[in-house]
Amino acid sequence: MPSKPHGGRLIHRVASPSRAERLLEEAKEMRAFPLRMTAAVDMENIARGIYSPLQGFMVREDFESVLNEMRLANDVPWTIPIVLDVDEDHLRDVAEGDEVVLTYEGEPVAVMEVEEIYAYDKREFAEKVYGTLSEEHPGVVRTMNMEDRLIGGRITLIKSLPNPYERYTLWPHETRILFKERGWRYVVGFQTRNAPHMGHEAIQKTALAIADGLFVNPVIGRKKAGDFRDEVILEAYRSLIENYFPKDTVALVVLRYEMRYAGPREAIHHAIMRKNYGCTHFIVGRDHAGVGNFYPPYAAQEIFKRFPDLGIQPLFFREFFYCRRCGGMVNEKTCPHPEEDRVRISGTTIRRMLSEGKLPPKEMMRPEVARAILRFENPFVT
Ligand code: ADX
Repeated sequence: MPSKPHGGRLIHRVASPSRAERLLEEAKEMRAFPLRMTAAVDMENIARGIYSPLQGFMVREDFESVLNEMRLANDVPWTIPIVLDVDEDHLRDVAEGDEVVLTYEGEPVAVMEVEEIYAYDKREFAEKVYGTLSEEHPGVVRTMNMEDRLIGGRITLIKSLPNPYERYTLWPHETRILFKERGWRYVVGFQTRNAPHMGHEAIQKTALAIADGLFVNPVIGRKKAGDFRDEVILEAYRSLIENYFPKDTVALVVLRYEMRYAGPREAIHHAIMRKNYGCTHFIVGRDHAGVGNFYPPYAAQEIFKRFPDLGIQPLFFREFFYCRRCGGMVNEKTCPHPEEDRVRISGTTIRRMLSEGKLPPKEMMRPEVARAILRFENPFVT
């Protein structure tokens, strides 16, 4: 049985073809709001049920409750504000109760019922969500660059965003069918923004050893410089799955979403999205969704204590590393040997070696995976 959608019901706010046609016609008379990439992706995630129970961008009551309580106003757990920011000029002549059209790259993509227009405090937003006001934090910078007003209200998708990864895309109502068809009752969700290294594979396989299926769900979308490019991550995973996982035990599906790098709060959000896809369990390892040294390595595990009602079971893993004496991937819970026997996985070393065209040590990355990455001229976001 896939897990119940968050908040009880899988949201589907996608207009039928005939309704979309009608709305497109009506939209010609509506005020247009251009969406930037982040908001456009959030909009489609709302419409497709990935953000269930949200039906639109947050109104003030939900926004404030998320900042202060890490819950929606109706007490359902929710940790990341999903808001639409607009500049004041653009709001002239727009009133609560109006319908507006949301556009992306010049095309109408959704209609929105404007429920509320409100001001907010960006510093408070950044401090509560990211736990810092440091300009070194990409989420803080992004928040400070937001426009000054938020508009909340329900959306209806009239046109899907252009999707370069159609063949890796399934929406929650489809993954739920897939899990049923495969007879997966215990489905482990795996969040990632990286090409897989041996530590990732170790936690995936430890979980899969007792689960029915693994849902590998890499985040596709704007990332920070130095991160792996989207197509590189997908090719690297294809190679890993083909060479190292039994057939039909893994589903590789992309999630279009912009990483917030909000550590603990984002871990809860990540779990909620995978719950909506139908996962029953969710992996949280070392420094989940972290950036730099902003969060203690296991803060993203600790935070789950505050959400006994989350409705998806987190699976916590201490850091995995290679131990020469054990002769395999282990962690401090399974290996008694001293530090000098251990090879810690370093993302920085892996990236450095790959960017010099070299294969990283096999204790850190599968050669097949490294070769798949090296086929790209520049595997990293610049
Ligand atoms: S994240 O931003 O998406 O969290 P990444 O793709 O590196 O980054 O991590 C995916 C998942 O693997 C996260 O749950 C993370 O905590 C976990 N993880 C990464 N490396 C290790 C490791 N060496 N040991 C245990 N867990 C790890």
